[in-house]
Amino acid sequence: MVLKDRSIVLGVTGGIAAYKAAALCSHLVQAGAVVDVILTDAAREFVAPLTFQALTHRPVITDMFALLAETEIGHVTLARRAELIIIAPLTANTLAKLAVGLADNMLTCTVLAATAPLLLAPAMESHMWINPLTQDNLTRLCAQRDVTVIGPKEGRLASGASGVGRMAEPEEILDAAQWVLARRGPLAERRVVVTAGGTREPLDPIRFLGNRSSGQMGYALARAARDRGARVTLITTTGQPPPFGVEWVAVETAEEMGEAVLGRLPETDLLLMAAAVADYRPAAVAEHKIKKSEAERTVTLVRTIDILSQVAERRRADQVIVGFAAETEDLIVHAQDKLRRKKLDLIVANDARQAMGAAENQVVLLSADGRVEQLPLLPKEEVAHRILDRVMDLLPGPPADPAPGKRPLG
Ligand code: CTP
Repeated sequence: MVLKDRSIVLGVTGGIAAYKAAALCSHLVQAGAVVDVILTDAAREFVAPLTFQALTHRPVITDMFALLAETEIGHVTLARRAELIIIAPLTANTLAKLAVGLADNMLTCTVLAATAPLLLAPAMESHMWINPLTQDNLTRLCAQRDVTVIGPKEGRLASGASGVGRMAEPEEILDAAQWVLARRGPLAERRVVVTAGGTREPLDPIRFLGNRSSGQMGYALARAARDRGARVTLITTTGQPPPFGVEWVAVETAEEMGEAVLGRLPETDLLLMAAAVADYRPAAVAEHKIKKSEAERTVTLVRTIDILSQVAERRRADQVIVGFAAETEDLIVHAQDKLRRKKLDLIVANDARQAMGAAENQVVLLSADGRVEQLPLLPKEEVAHRILDRVMDLLPGPPADPAPGKRPLG
């Protein structure tokens, strides 16, 4: 959605990862972006312009001195039109040129002439990457312009050696592009906290009491809020990496999740409490693995913290708090009760048996003003956007702190 009809220049420089730029190009086009590809001479040694032309249905720019192309899509036109310039892969050589403002080919000319943000996906041998000259070049470029860097990652390199230098995967670069273009969205500067997954309450060093929550709904909400420009923190029990630009806080137990949520509450504009939090935990955690015996075993459980009840006691009126109710009977009655008890602005109610672990969800939205909205069965990504559509009406005025967020390096 974020990339639809956005004008993106994809610069490809000469490294073995250039073949992956074709996959990135395809993703961008499928997401609805209008993509102009510039290949450097070195890139053409690795991939053919025809590949990109077939993917974008647009001419691919290679030659700075092709007069016909210059009149139609010269570097000035491209520079003016581009909303984002992605360079993937970015070689040490092109990085060095950009850092000193060289303009010796269509790509470097376009970057120098443009004011659009840059998204860079470096890829090179480890020693080239860690060379202080390369690092200085990157620092210098980042100081001058709106630059987001993704990668390079650790892994197998073209030389056969392992180390830092692999280009980020096309899907990760796509995700980062969405973040860059979403920053000025309707939730810009709003601080959103999302919880995801099921908590795990340990019994011994290797066993826990848990539940079937996969965390998908929470991740979908984090991504949807990010795609509207929010500064998102994802407090999660799953090990899955967060969407690009989202702060990630790994927790395991209800206690840890409570601490993470309550600690951030004063700076939170919107809390989306999608996690399935355990209501009980074993009273004692065995130091060593519990050994079996023939006798029956009873585990004593004690109550955990009810995070939303604690939030209800401390929250301000200008904060929006959204809870979730996963029920197996009397959905609306239980959800309305939780909405009141936990002083929520909105509760998202669903049938736990249908929703947990599934890619789709059918929910009812109940708000404090008595409004009840039944949504059809939808992919969780779409449910997340519908929830945010409702939240947009509930959020008061402009955000409390208009200071721009620090840009993460992926
Ligand atoms: N929740 C919470 N802390 C808990 C349990 C739940 O903050 N210890 C939150 C959940 O994240 C969810 C909402 O409260 O947003 C409702 O959770 P649910 O488990 O459905 O309700 P409970 O309050 O636990 O009530 P019950 O177990 O009686 O259904």
